[in-house]
This record gives sequence, structure tokens and C-alpha cells, in this order.
Amino acid sequence: MDLTQYVNWFRHSTPYINAYRGKVFVILLPGEALKHDNFWNIAHDITLLNSLGVKLVLVYGARPQINDALEAKGLSTNMQEMITAQSRNTVRITDAASLDVIKHVIGKLRIDIEATFSMGLINSPMHGADITLASGNFVMAKPFGIQNGIDYGLMGEVRKVETDAIRKQLDNGNIVLLPSLGYSPTGEVFNLTVEDVASNTAIALKADKLLIYGNEAGILDQDGERISKLSAEEALALIKQKIEQNGIDEELRNLEVSVKACSATVKRSQVISYEDDGALLIELFTRDGIGTLITQELYEQLRPATIKDVGGILELIEPLEEEGVLVHRSRELLEAEIEQFVVIEREGMIIACGALYPQDSQSGEVACMATHPEYRNHNRGQMILEQIEKNARKLSLSRLFVLTTKSPHWFVERGFVASSVDELPEKKKSLYNYQRNSKIFVKLLG
Ligand SMILES: CC(C)(COP(=O)(O)OP(=O)(O)OC[C@H]1O[C@@H](n2cnc3c(N)ncnc32)[C@H](O)[C@@H]1OP(=O)(O)O)[C@@H](O)C(=O)NCCC(=O)NCCS
Repeated sequence: MDLTQYVNWFRHSTPYINAYRGKVFVILLPGEALKHDNFWNIAHDITLLNSLGVKLVLVYGARPQINDALEAKGLSTNMQEMITAQSRNTVRITDAASLDVIKHVIGKLRIDIEATFSMGLINSPMHGADITLASGNFVMAKPFGIQNGIDYGLMGEVRKVETDAIRKQLDNGNIVLLPSLGYSPTGEVFNLTVEDVASNTAIALKADKLLIYGNEAGILDQDGERISKLSAEEALALIKQKIEQNGIDEELRNLEVSVKACSATVKRSQVISYEDDGALLIELFTRDGIGTLITQELYEQLRPATIKDVGGILELIEPLEEEGVLVHRSRELLEAEIEQFVVIEREGMIIACGALYPQDSQSGEVACMATHPEYRNHNRGQMILEQIEKNARKLSLSRLFVLTTKSPHWFVERGFVASSVDELPEKKKSLYNYQRNSKIFVKLLG
């Protein structure tokens, strides 16, 4: 193994680990994923996420297993297209006899999943991790009823997700396991689609992510190439196209679930393959991922910093402080000065920052400009500086200055000119650190 590569990978994953701690992820595992040889690895990766402090809800489906069981009993699988305002799916018209089989299949799967996680993942790096799965009557359902003259029988739809009860389990460090079944207040059980349970649970919990395992490496374009990211709007256009081309298939379902979740309260939805070993980890812990990301909000956002960003900014600037490129700022100082900062946030991570410190009625100092090394040279520094200049104009400042040891040319190319200590505002002059020997540059704001 190349140790340098290993160390680099580990270092680069630290910001993600910090960004994901305490976050809620809902994972949709279709029945096909549970059947696949790679499920052992998937269970391992889920365990690892849990041990990093991510709060996880697993929603599992059972379509192929139920089909097999019904066929073995000589019962019809009875699939029918069901089209609602938000989605189209192929669902099972469910009578009492088939529901009985479904309950058996889903119950057995639950026990098998619990057994897999109980083994402490023997012979794997997660051996010894104590993982507890919790399941129960967390999803309430109502009958789907009759549509276009078809009576869907005991096929239902989600009525309510018991978020308080789920959160209690998550807060205790448990992974919550939800089947594609729901209960009614009158004591009935309804067969649900896994997509319905996963999307409604993610929305009700305001999950940070909905992760969907599919049989492809994400959502594919017309040439069969993976699309790495889509806005909800782009995803909607793609849905229309796919309906015309292929009708209802797994990819379409995954797109619709993602759009539904992202159009409501879920920040991001990601589709990954259940066939690829480690897909979950690569998608979550590398810059470009391996699946398809669907997001409602802007993927990257330039905005004023808030107190919640202090940790992220520290992570970004600490390596530069160690190199002596930036002056050291303690957490306390950053907290006190956070309002002077603007940041670029990407996927919950702070990848660029900069600050404006007004010095007197005319001058302001540009400071602490930094872009994460992996995200440099894409105009982010420029965008931060432009925002700082805008903020300075709002404060009626006419002059910006910057002290830099490493990036003089960067500022010169953006309209700053060389200056000297004498030109600094009085307050700053007395604080000038001759040892750092920073170069001073000034820009007049027109
Ligand atoms: C300076 C810094 C913030 C720029 O971030 P960025 O997001 O890459 O900025 P942009 O994408 O807007 O600008 C990149 C351009 O500037 C150039 N550039 C980057 N650093 C430079 C430097 N030190 N001197 C001259 N040019 C530089 C790049 O080559 C690139 O040029 P190109 O567009 O012709 O390829 C970033 O390099 C950084 O974090 N540096 C370390 C911290 C620092 O020195 N801060 C300044 C003191 S406050």
C-alpha cells in the first residue's frame, strides 16, 4: 500500500468527518441491494458512518424477495402502475393473502439485517463495533384506495412518520431500521413502497441527506455516462425525458424520490450503486464522489459567516497558520470577529473565506483570505474579494489594504498597489509586526 496516498486520503477526509458528525442521513436500500453479494460491504460502510457519529435511518425494500415468495406460494405478484401528482411507480395490488406473505418476507429480512449488524462485522475492520438497530411502529399508513377503477387493497401510502420516536433512537446512537410497511390507528398493516417510506421519512426528519442505492453508478445520461450532479430543476427535466424513453424503471423512481425530497426539506439526495464496493464512502468522503448528487439549494454558496462557521474556518486556516502564511487567530478571537467574515460553503464545508476589518472611517483591512488547496484556481478567491469590496463600499470605505507575505501578486493582479507601513491607518501602524515583514498593498475603491 502507498502510505503517502493513505495519509493524504485520511487527511482530506477529516473535513467531511467533521461536517457529517451529528447529521441525519436516510439510506434507501432496495431489496436488490440486500440480495447482492456486496451487501456485506455496504453493512460495513454503514457501521463505519454510525461510528463517526452520523445518525442513520435505513429503509429497506423487498420487491424481488416478495415476488419470489408469492410465486413459491402460487400467488400472483399483481403489479400495477400507480401514478400520483409527484411520482409514478409500479406497485403491488395487495390482498390479505399476499400481505401475509409480505409480512413474513419483511420480518425475515429484518431479522437477517439485524443478524448481519450484530456480528460486530467479524473479519472486517469494524470488528468489535457495537451496533444496535431499532425498529418499531414508526410509520403510520393509510390505504391508497381506488384509482381509475382499480382497488389497490392493502397497498397503502405513508400518512405520518413518528419523528420524535425515531429521533430518540438516533440520539441514543441506534440505527433505525424501517421496512416498507406501515400501521394504521385502527390496527391494520399496509404494504408501502420503499420509495414512499424513504422520501417521507427523510422529509419528516429534515434529513441532511437521502442516500439511495441503485443498480447503476448513479443517474446516467443518454450516452450511459454518470451525471455527477443535478439541480432539482434539471432532474425534473430528465424525469420527463426518461418517462418518454423508458417508462417506469428504477432510475426514474430514484430521480423522483430525490426531487420530492429535495423540493421539500432534504438538503441533498445522492444515488449510488449497490454493486460497487465502497461506493458510499467514496461518494461521501471524496471531492467528486462516485454517484449522482441532486440538490435543491445552490451547491455552493457565498454568504456572510455565522458563529456556526467558526469550526469550519479554523479547519481551513489552521494549516496556513502553521505554514506562517496567515497570522494565528484563536477560536475566541474568531468567534468575536465572525461578523467580519464571508465564506463559501460547499456541501456543508467551508472551502474559502476572507474578512474585512474596518480600521477608521476610510480604510478597511482585507485579511484571512484563504481557499482550500483542493478548490483553488476557480475564481473563489476573486468572488470573496469582490464581496469584501462590496461590503466596504456599503460602509463608505474608500481604501482597502492588505498585508501579505505569500500572495502579493494575487492582490496586484486585482488592482492593489504596493504601499508602505507609513501609509497604514494609525491603529494598524502601531501593530505592524516587523518580524513577519509582510508586504503592504492598497486599493482605492472607485
Ligand atoms: C490567494 C488565494 C486566497 C487565492 O484563492 P483562489 O480561490 O485560488 O483564487 P482565484 O481562483 O480567484 O485566483 C486564482 C488565480 O490566482 C493565481 N494565484 C494564486 N495564488 C497566487 C499568488 N500567491 N500569487 C499570484 N497569483 C496567484 C492562480 O495561479 C490563478 O491564476 P489563473 O486564474 O491565471 O490560473 C489562495 O491561493 C490561498 O488560500 N492562498 C494562501 C493564503 C494567502 O496567501 N492569503 C492571502 C493573504 S490574506
